Amino acid sequence: MKVLVIGSGGREHTLVWKIAQSPRVRRVFCAPGNPGIGRSAECLALPVTPPFSEIVEFARREQIALAVVGPEDPLAEGIVDAFEQAGLRIFGPSRLAAQMEASKKFAKAIMREGRVPQAAYAEFTSLEPARKYIAHCALPCVIKFNDLAKGKGVSIHSDRAEAEAKLADIFEKRVFGDPSNGVVIEEFLEGEEASVLAFVDGRTVLPMEAAQDHKAIFDGDRGPNTGGMGAYCPAPVVDTAMAERVRREILEPTVAALARRGIVYKGVLYAGLMIGKDGPRVLEFNCRFGDPEVQAVLPRLENDVVDVMDAVVDGRLSDMELRWNNQHAICVVAASAGYPGDYAKGKPIKGLDEAGKEALIFHAGTAWKDGQIVTNGGRVLGVTALGDTLAEAQQKAYAALGKIHFDGIYYRRDIGYRALGRGK
Ligand code: AMP
Ligand code: GLY
Repeated sequence: MKVLVIGSGGREHTLVWKIAQSPRVRRVFCAPGNPGIGRSAECLALPVTPPFSEIVEFARREQIALAVVGPEDPLAEGIVDAFEQAGLRIFGPSRLAAQMEASKKFAKAIMREGRVPQAAYAEFTSLEPARKYIAHCALPCVIKFNDLAKGKGVSIHSDRAEAEAKLADIFEKRVFGDPSNGVVIEEFLEGEEASVLAFVDGRTVLPMEAAQDHKAIFDGDRGPNTGGMGAYCPAPVVDTAMAERVRREILEPTVAALARRGIVYKGVLYAGLMIGKDGPRVLEFNCRFGDPEVQAVLPRLENDVVDVMDAVVDGRLSDMELRWNNQHAICVVAASAGYPGDYAKGKPIKGLDEAGKEALIFHAGTAWKDGQIVTNGGRVLGVTALGDTLAEAQQKAYAALGKIHFDGIYYRRDIGYRALGRGK
């Protein structure tokens, strides 16, 4: 069969790498892809923005048996609806279902309907009422722009004046664009974060092994948030009993609440969780695989991922069981100096082949230039290593990273520190 992957980052490289291992798959295409993806897939310079007519036409002409969507933007813009209307098979949630990520208010309402544990919150669509609320609410408080904001729409404030300034940025300076869908202001949750991604076929929920992301740019979780600087799997904060609670108290009631509204959620549902004293609570939902979480999760999956994705599309997940190897996986992200702020592009990357002998090198922001692979994004590479212990995986990942060079390379030196520090 032929498979088409949509996207161009480290997540999509990981998906292509795993899909290409399926004995059922003859050819893999990726739109638009990147130089790393180009090693196992044919990259296509086709637009993946509405109305999706060119990519749909390509899939029809090539008789693509399965399309798989990586990023949230095309999902929120209805790529799944466009493929399904053309009678094509595609893995991912519909435009409506993708509101779980694309609208904070929508996700909060679904959680309330499903009695899913979350942070207490209030909604505002204009500056003045939000400002009044900030004057009296408990601190710290968390301000969340309702719409997609490339991971930058969330800020935590311990200071009222600073929170007010943030509201003015959102409503008056429109730093995240049109503010008419407003903001959610929520209670600050304490605990340890974990990401639980699950395959969902509309009814059945099949959780993957839990992972932990590292969102802050600097060691020790300091500095501004990024898209994610590294991840490891499994995450001991989600032990077997906690995983069972997450399925029963969070994932299943969420999918059931969507179904009661007539929304069939298919694809991956990503629960960003705070594991606190009273158990798990939801920080956010995403409508897709996490990046870099997937770079530490999929290398541990023993199933043919195409079988699992097929079962999602066909609504047969209840027949499926996920099998995991006993290894620990860790992914460290190599970024461009300056990220998540401004950074340079076009810096030649050396040592990829050498490092690739010791670890999996997933390309996130790379490009070809004058016959060389160069940097082309804030997050440039994800380096994943596996080991019998997390310490061994960590040591291997950093050894491989040591072989990679580009001007301004930056990576955190402490990925996995929470798990490694347990019991110490
Ligand atoms: P989100 O994009 O909603 O996951 O938020 C980004 C990050 O902000 C999360 O990974 C958390 O570290 C933090 N965060 C979001 N909501 C809360 C909350 N209610 N309490 C504490 N931290 C939060
Ligand atoms: N690593 C966080 C995300 O994928 O949203």
